[in-house]
Amino acid sequence: MRIAIVGGTGYVGFCTGLGFASKRHDVVLIDLNAKKLAGVREGRCPVYEPGAAEILRKVLDQGNLTTATIIPEADIILLAVGTPSLPDGGINVTQIKKVSETIGSTIKTWNTSPVIVVKSTVVPGTTETVVKPIVESTSGKHAGTDFGLVMNPEFLREGVALKDFLNPDRIVIGEYDKRSGDLVATLYKDFPGTLMRTSLAAAEMIKYANNAFLATKISFINEIGNLCKRLGIDIDEVAKGIALDKRIAPHFLQSGVGYGGSCFPKDVAALASLAKQNGYEPKLLNEVMALNKRQRRLLLDRLGPMKGKRVAVLGLAFKPNTDDVRESPAIDIIGDLVNQGASVVAYDPQAMITMKQVFPNILYAQTAKEALQTADACVVLTDWNEFKELTIEDFTQMHGTQIIEGRRILKPEINADGLCW
Ligand code: UDX
Repeated sequence: MRIAIVGGTGYVGFCTGLGFASKRHDVVLIDLNAKKLAGVREGRCPVYEPGAAEILRKVLDQGNLTTATIIPEADIILLAVGTPSLPDGGINVTQIKKVSETIGSTIKTWNTSPVIVVKSTVVPGTTETVVKPIVESTSGKHAGTDFGLVMNPEFLREGVALKDFLNPDRIVIGEYDKRSGDLVATLYKDFPGTLMRTSLAAAEMIKYANNAFLATKISFINEIGNLCKRLGIDIDEVAKGIALDKRIAPHFLQSGVGYGGSCFPKDVAALASLAKQNGYEPKLLNEVMALNKRQRRLLLDRLGPMKGKRVAVLGLAFKPNTDDVRESPAIDIIGDLVNQGASVVAYDPQAMITMKQVFPNILYAQTAKEALQTADACVVLTDWNEFKELTIEDFTQMHGTQIIEGRRILKPEINADGLCW
């Protein structure tokens, strides 16, 4: 099939385009960023994803991945543009509206019946009440007859997005009309995982409920971890024990300084905001967010006053194998340390360039060891594998002895003070 992806150099759009192109579909990446599109044509990935460069080279050689700045005739037009948070936690649908207008005015002159697929994370009701009316009014056509409408959420994790796209647990197809649902089901016919067909709003809600549940699971294990720390119980033994209940499963039970990233914080806040707009007070979701934020405070309180001291911050990215620092615990923690008048020396294998855009004036070391050499205290905020190799000798070079782990990663003999362990 011929698939036009709007927002094609963004994280979701690019990985989705690569995935479909690797399955021999004809993919056209559309984006406003002509520089990134040119880079794609030359084999340069606009986002960092393991395995992406190899697949990009292959599909460029095969000739079934191209780029464009306007939407060409296609069987499927897929929206993968961003929906950033508003101050009240709701989602900003400006890009969704703009793209819907562009799609409407584009298909106005077509005599085919394309299917519009919303893959952007949008709150329940958005596809029906925002995308549909705008496309109809700008095209003069009718959803369900002149064009189809589907909501197909993504469940991609940064750093493993291609693997997640090609090996989904499930494929969720929210359909406005059966023909569209059938077409998109055909698109995914040779993918693994369970294919589920449902309504547009249910598909939109499945995405939010999924991320909100995972965030809740993390805040839950952090609550238990905070208590276990007081009781002298090893939280990871408890996590291992409850994970044996197949209704719980072992994933997302690592306690620590809490979740970050561009999705969990944004999606939980958007769901809570939607609830409030509909007269429902989401007390559980509010506490999931509050507890997550408190983990950062907990670590800073454990560290104690650092005015005039130097603190080594090992790990800046919101998780390993990415350079992404969005909503990373490191941002709140470094911000507080700087406000206290501490001197911060930071190290991260990949995320120092991105963190320099946030904190240009703190110190950055070239290695973890270098960061430790002049530090009075150390906090570990990202579970990078390389931190497992650090030795007691690396830490004895410090001027002080305080080592607080926000992620359980250091050798046990270093005897760090674990946030929840
Ligand atoms: C997440 C969802 O997993 C993915 O399905 C969705 O499409 C996008 O959001 P991502 O944000 O890339 O993916 O990262 P993920 O690997 O889920 O981790 C999110 C955060 O939770 C990280 O900060 C990580 O450190 C933290 N985390 C994860 C924990 O604190 N404990 C855990 O047990 C697992």
